[in-house]
Amino acid sequence: MNRLGVTTSLGTFLLLAAPGAWAACSFDVEVGDTLAFNTKEMTAEQSCETVTVNLTHTGKLPAAAMGHNWVLTADEADIQPIANDGMAAGVNGNYVDADDPRVIAATKLVGGGQSTSVEFSVAELDKGEYVFFCSFPGHWTVMKGSFKVT
Ligand code: CO
Repeated sequence: MNRLGVTTSLGTFLLLAAPGAWAACSFDVEVGDTLAFNTKEMTAEQSCETVTVNLTHTGKLPAAAMGHNWVLTADEADIQPIANDGMAAGVNGNYVDADDPRVIAATKLVGGGQSTSVEFSVAELDKGEYVFFCSFPGHWTVMKGSFKVT
């Protein structure tokens, strides 16, 4: 096998080994009874126009104890203020202020065994890096990742 063949095979292998790393229009995100999303990086193409995020909580704890949501915003510096403003909404309000203009998209808060989805437009978003996080009190400090629009 020539050098090019080896390189091509390796590239294919890396893509298959990291299915969360390539651009898509629909994402399946899992969370459990820990403060972690199963992905740290998501990439969506602007040409998707609409992106769907399906969030599944595979744990056992109820939303009031270990609730998770998936919230998208443009600036990492806004995570804490969004979470702070979402505190007043409480569990029933998904810990997100429904009128927060900094929130681009947000799922409902789910507990163990529950799943939810959010669909939102990326057609008007600038290409670049955004950030997703869980706005449950305290979770946002570690439950976050990068959402790129290409
Ligand atoms: Co959470």
